[in-house]
Amino acid sequence: MKTTHWVILIAVLLVWQACQPKGRNSESSNMVKQDSTHAWWKEAVVYEVYPRSFKDSNGDGIGDLKGVEQKLDYLKALGVNVIWLCPIYSSPNVDNGYDISDYYHIMKDFGTMADFDSLLAGVHKRDMKLIMDLVVNHTSDQHRWFKESRKSKNNPYRDFYFWRNPGPNGGPPNNWVSYFGGSAWQFDKTTEQYYLHLFAVEQPDLNWDNPAVRDSVFKMMHYWLDKGIDGFRMDVVSLYSKKKGLPDFPKNFDGNFAHFYANGPHEQEYLKGMYHKVLSHYDVMTVGEASGVHLDEAHLYVAPERHELDMIFQFELMGIDHKPGPDYSLPKKWTLPEFKKVFIRWDSALTARGEGWNSVFLGNHDNPRVVSRFGNDKEYRVPSAKLFATLLMTMRGTPYIYEGDELGMTNAPFKTIHDFRDVATINRYNEIKAKGGDLEAFLANQREFGRDNSRTPMQWNDQGNAGFSTGKPWIMVNPNYKTINAAAEEADSESVLNYYKRIIHFRHEHPTMVYGDFKVIDRSNPDVFAYIRGEGNDRYLVLLNMSNNPVDFALPESVSRKSWNLMIDNYEDGQSQSGSSIKMKPWESMVYGEK
Ligand code: GLC
Ligand code: CA
Repeated sequence: MKTTHWVILIAVLLVWQACQPKGRNSESSNMVKQDSTHAWWKEAVVYEVYPRSFKDSNGDGIGDLKGVEQKLDYLKALGVNVIWLCPIYSSPNVDNGYDISDYYHIMKDFGTMADFDSLLAGVHKRDMKLIMDLVVNHTSDQHRWFKESRKSKNNPYRDFYFWRNPGPNGGPPNNWVSYFGGSAWQFDKTTEQYYLHLFAVEQPDLNWDNPAVRDSVFKMMHYWLDKGIDGFRMDVVSLYSKKKGLPDFPKNFDGNFAHFYANGPHEQEYLKGMYHKVLSHYDVMTVGEASGVHLDEAHLYVAPERHELDMIFQFELMGIDHKPGPDYSLPKKWTLPEFKKVFIRWDSALTARGEGWNSVFLGNHDNPRVVSRFGNDKEYRVPSAKLFATLLMTMRGTPYIYEGDELGMTNAPFKTIHDFRDVATINRYNEIKAKGGDLEAFLANQREFGRDNSRTPMQWNDQGNAGFSTGKPWIMVNPNYKTINAAAEEADSESVLNYYKRIIHFRHEHPTMVYGDFKVIDRSNPDVFAYIRGEGNDRYLVLLNMSNNPVDFALPESVSRKSWNLMIDNYEDGQSQSGSSIKMKPWESMVYGEK
C-alpha cells in the first residue's frame, strides 16, 4: 500500500474511533448520554407494566416475566416504545416487590434471570426499550444488609439503616409517621433500638448518608445497565436524603409529611454522584418518583445543566381530589379550572422555561383508574377513556400509559377487606379497627381511592379469569372483563384500544405534539379543556369536553379567525369547524390542525 493509502486508512480509523460511544462497556447499545434539546426519551411513549397483574404464563395466578414477553407484540402494535417494568427483584412481597431482598436476582414468582434476559432481548428486537424500577430508598427487612444490620450495634452493616435509641419516654425516637399508617419507627428487641421505615415495617429505610450504601447502590445500577437496560424509574427518589438530626414535625405542622420528608439537605449531592458515577456512562432515561416535591423545587432534580434526572413524576394532579384526613385521605371536590392549572403550572415551570422536561401521567399502580376517577366509567366510559388518551398524547412532556387504561379498565367492585391485597389498605384497616373507628367509611374510601383498583388483572379476553391466568388470580378479576377486554377491543374499530393506537400514532407522526408550545385557551371554562399546540404555521387545536353535557364551545377570536381541519375525534363522526363555535358531545375530544 502507498503511504497516502496508509494515511487515509489511519485517518478513517481515527474518525471511526472518535465516533464510537464512550462507555464502560462498549458492547451494549445504551452507552453515552445525548445532550441536546431533542432526545429519544422526550419523544417516547412509555407504558407501565405491573408484572404481577399483567399476564400469568404458568397458571399459578401471578403474572410473570414470560407472560410479559408473550405480550410484547401487543405492546408493539399499541405503538408504545418504552416499557417501564415495576420491580421484579427477589422480594417477600409485603409491598408487591417494592420491598427488595436481593437486587441481583429475579423474584421467584416472576421467573428466572434467563426469563429476564429473554424479555429484554425481545423488547430490543422489537425496537422498544425497557426501563426498570429502582427501589433504593429502602430494602426489605429480609435483605442481607438488614439482617446483618439488626444483629448488633457494631455490625458492619449497622449504618446501612437508621437506628436510634428510644425517645425520652421509651417510645419512638421522633413523631414521624409512615406512608402506610402508624409510626415510622419499629422497635427491635435484639439491640433495643428503633429503626426507621417511611413505608411498611418490613421496608427499612437505607441510610444514604453512608457512602457504602451509595456505592452498593451504584454498583447494582451498573450491573443492570451493563445488561443493556435503557433506564430507571426511581422509586420515591426525593426521600433519599433525610433531614439532619431527624427532627420532630414542627409545631403547627400542616400534615403534609411527604413534603417534610422530601428534598433533604444532601439530596442533590447524592443524585449528582449517581449521575457522574453511573448514569453519565450510558444513554438511558431516568424518571424519579418525586413524592413531596413541589413546583418550585422540581428544577433541582431535572434542570438539564444540573445533571441529575431527566424527568420526575409530580403528584399535584394525583392530589387534586383528596386531602389529608385524620386517618387517611378524604375526598375533595375539584374543578376543571384547577385541573388545567396543574398542567399549565408544570409545563411553564419546567419545559417552557427550559428548566426540565415534564412527564405526564393520569394513573399508575398506586392510584385508582383514570376513567373512574376523573372520567365517567358508566354511560361515558368509552368516550371519557378516549378523551384521557387524547390528553396524554397531546401534552408537552413524555406520556406514561398505565396498563389497562388503553382498554378503558375501571375501578374494581371490592366489597369486604378480604377483597383487598394492598399492605397500605390492610395496615390502615387494622389500625382503625384497633381504635374502634368507622371501618365502613374507610372501606368506602378505599373502594374509590385504594391502590388495588389499578392492580386487578389485565383483561385479555372474555374467557376464564379474563385470559390473565388459568389458575386462581392473586387478586380478583374485575367482572366487567366480559365486555372490557383486549380481544373484543381489537375486533372493534371504535374501541378504546383502537383509539389509543390511533392517537399514539398521531403523536409519533407529529413532533409538534412533543416539542411544540402549549397554550391553554379559556382557562376558566368549567367544562372544556382547550389548548393550542405549536406555533406559526404548525398549530393544532385540542378540545376536551370533560363533562357529561353537550357543550357549544365558543372559540376565542384569535382562534376562530383561522380555519381548522378535524384530524382526530373520539366520537369518530365530528364536524370540521365552521364559524366561531364548536358543538361538542359529552366527553368528546377533538384534535384540529390548521388548514
Ligand atoms: C412508591 C411505589 C409504591 C410503593 C412505595 C414504597 O410510591 O410506587 O407502590 O408502595 O413507593 O416503595
Ligand atoms: Ca405465574
